[in-house]
Amino acid sequence: MEKITTGNSDIHDQSPYGRVYANDLALKDMAAKPRLGFTVGAAIVRERLSEADSPKPNLIAAMVKGKKGSNPKANDWEFLILDGSATRILHREKRGVCVECHSSQRSGDFVFGGDYGSEPGRR
Ligand code: HEC
Repeated sequence: MEKITTGNSDIHDQSPYGRVYANDLALKDMAAKPRLGFTVGAAIVRERLSEADSPKPNLIAAMVKGKKGSNPKANDWEFLILDGSATRILHREKRGVCVECHSSQRSGDFVFGGDYGSEPGRR
């Protein structure tokens, strides 16, 4: 199994490549102005590529909105890392580094990005 470090260098900062995808629920919530928070089942996925022109991601970071009360510390989000083909969950957490950093975006319900639907690939 690939070793996963969940420090910032491994997830986003040193590896700026990759697209962000969101399911329909998440897209709708993201487009709302002001953003009121995400619906149960909303999912946002961020690919991580090792090189800008890699055909496939080597890791996928994801956040999924759980039932109300499932993770009060993080507005009920769960954070996951999947392998590049999204067949295996390598890591999941309800609190920890993902949550810590994403909690700086509390006013946007822990989500950094804007309307990914209208700007595919925006980081
Ligand atoms: C040091 C800060 C930091 C850490 C730690 C971190 N993230 Fe992020 N994350 C960001 C930033 C900044 C963005 C928006 C820019 C980007 O996509 O690179 C982001 C974007 C995302 C997105 C796209 C949705 C959004 O918020 O824009 C997902 C999904 C995501 N991160 C999942 C995770 C997971 C899962 C972990 C833990 C394994 C994690 N992140 C750890 C800072 C962080």
